[in-house]
Amino acid sequence: MHTHRFLIKGGIPLKGQVKVSGSKNAALPIIAACLLTNEPVTLTNVPDIADIATIQHILHFLGVKAEMEGNTMKIHAEAVANVEIQHDLVSKLRASILFLGPLLARNGEVRLAFPGGCVIGKRPVDAHLLALEELGAEVVNFDEILHLKADKLTGTDFILSEASVTGTENAIMAAVLAEGESVIRLSAAEPHVQDLCHFLNSMGAKIGGIGTHTLRIEGVSKLHGTEHRITSDYLEVGTLVLAAAITKGSVDILDIDPHHLDIFWQKLKEVGVHFELGKDSVRVQPSHNLKAIRLQTAVFPSFPTDLQAPFAALLTQAEGTSFIFETLFDGRLQYLYELEKMGLRPKILNPYQAEITGPTQLKGAAIASCDIRAGAGVVLAALAAEGETEISNIYYIDRGYEGIDKKLRSLGAEIKRIQ
Ligand code: EPU
Repeated sequence: MHTHRFLIKGGIPLKGQVKVSGSKNAALPIIAACLLTNEPVTLTNVPDIADIATIQHILHFLGVKAEMEGNTMKIHAEAVANVEIQHDLVSKLRASILFLGPLLARNGEVRLAFPGGCVIGKRPVDAHLLALEELGAEVVNFDEILHLKADKLTGTDFILSEASVTGTENAIMAAVLAEGESVIRLSAAEPHVQDLCHFLNSMGAKIGGIGTHTLRIEGVSKLHGTEHRITSDYLEVGTLVLAAAITKGSVDILDIDPHHLDIFWQKLKEVGVHFELGKDSVRVQPSHNLKAIRLQTAVFPSFPTDLQAPFAALLTQAEGTSFIFETLFDGRLQYLYELEKMGLRPKILNPYQAEITGPTQLKGAAIASCDIRAGAGVVLAALAAEGETEISNIYYIDRGYEGIDKKLRSLGAEIKRIQ
């Protein structure tokens, strides 16, 4: 897996239609939430990607049945083993942290090695622990492993230490089975958090305020089995739209929820990209004379950090100096050093801020993918570059994008997977 590379010949305008996959960041918490019921659950539109295989592997380790066929996963957590989830299982997936809430609620105890995942800056677990403590958990250890216990979870009114996505999801998964009412303030409201709430409500949970930063949850004593379709991946939509725009292509992207990307469309308009939104699709048309903008990331509904690197790839083709302000992570501008190898002259002001002056004719080079989204960003740059680009570490890209090379090829891109 680690030895695979992408070979991309740039300069071809993409053309055609492509359907978006289910959301990784919705599927992961929803799969973890299946531990909250002893009845069977069927999930459809699950993306077939490395992160999903990793979480499935952890379910098996816990003695839970989890079978994937095509894009459907059937999960049955009749019983869940109370065992320590060790480092080798969680090291590839920071989202393993999502087992804290469900295991506490189901078994009254969780022991989890510190999760790994993308190398994109310091990502503390404080928000998770504080929330679970508010709901009555005791942190027994958080030096070598995360060890939490809760004889009983009790609903309460509290504020998270920040609007952490997986922190909010852990708090929700613990609160749905707690006794009494919980109010979770400063909740993250990303589309994947919303999808988790809809899923839990279909299992009998009582979550209100979905899509806002204040969730109200009335605890129930039991959740039942259900069938749920994972929401489509707005981060993949954004990436494909940018692929069309950067190659001056004409592409229809299907099966999307346009409202997941309101601010993204706004920024695209500012840059001067031509596109048309349908009820559940978007048509991107060739655009010339793109203009530089200021791009600042923040929690939903502001501009998503996960689309910062892909959008910056487009900004290399815009006239003038764009300013990028990544407010969430301190390691998410690394891809600019890769784009430098392709001829860009970015000004990296500090770990959070950079300037890109364009338009720059990018040139093919040997570059690396630094994380999932940085990987998507360099793929986009390669699609616009003159000549051939070889991208290593594509394992990261495979973690988050279902068959990105196949999808781009179906739109006419020259992209090969080589070993
Ligand atoms: N942060 C802030 N301010 C906030 C919220 C967060 O500075 O208001 C900082 C935190 O301190 C933390 C970092 O931002 O260091 C990450 O935030 P968060 O805890 O929300 O991240 P996460 O829950 O660990 C999820 C996604 C990430 C995505 C982030 C941010 C999943 C499984 N992961 O991670 O997805 O980048 O939210 O939206 O949902 C990816 O898919 O490539 C990915 C890394």
